[in-house]
Amino acid sequence: MNTIALSNNVQIQVIANPEALAQAAAAEFVQQANRAIAATGRFTVALSGGSTPKSLYALLATPSWREQVPWQQVYFFWGDERHVPPDHPDSNYRMTQERLLSQVPIPPENVHRIKTERPDASAVATEYEQELRQFFQLEANELPRFDLVLLGMGPDGHTASLFPHTQVLHEQTRLVAAPWVEKFKTYRITLTPPVLNHAVHTVFFVTGAEKAETLQAVIEGDFQPENFPSQLIQPVHGTLLWMVDQAAARLLSPSVIKR
Ligand code: 6PG
Repeated sequence: MNTIALSNNVQIQVIANPEALAQAAAAEFVQQANRAIAATGRFTVALSGGSTPKSLYALLATPSWREQVPWQQVYFFWGDERHVPPDHPDSNYRMTQERLLSQVPIPPENVHRIKTERPDASAVATEYEQELRQFFQLEANELPRFDLVLLGMGPDGHTASLFPHTQVLHEQTRLVAAPWVEKFKTYRITLTPPVLNHAVHTVFFVTGAEKAETLQAVIEGDFQPENFPSQLIQPVHGTLLWMVDQAAARLLSPSVIKR
């Protein structure tokens, strides 16, 4: 698998298929965990939701991968969550709980779930922001710095719950917001762009032919984050790695995918 530099802090890996991609993503997770724990004694991760990471989470729960991660020093957060109870079929927490959290010896207190059972989405966001401030021991104008942020990308170019043409794209003060998402007629809770861009290492994990057009626009097209919010992800003091399968990468220029 070749890793291509797109800029000084952005790389892309194009991997044959979703199964191989999940293996590569598990290896990346373990590598980042070992790096962070060697440096600071802990590994803080903002997990992504949706369907793409299901294979990664399930793989990390298998014995050969599970045994490589010092779970006692791993701390999980979520990059975004749907405004549903934690046992709801749409819950990112439930998806992660079923595939990973219930299968590995991570201490429950290390899992920082967004408490979306509260009816007021804005209050959920405020509460999660307080939890981040407390965990990372932040000063008033400080940002939390995750060791790893995992992100997916929707066919419309959204990431986390940063959807096209929504106000949260311009949020520069809050750490966590609760945008109304018209297309789904629901609130979401999401980390804001400044937080996502303050991570040590960010990985976009994208598969499927249905995302090829959007991926090409995001990576190679004009900068238009209102239409493609994934373009907002530009780590300030960190690195970004796109991990994509060949189906999603099929429209990228040959220099990137080296067919
Ligand atoms: C969510 C995710 C979201 C996701 C993209 C891609 O809550 O749905 O955080 O940002 O990563 O929508 O979703 P798929 O992996 O299902 O294509």
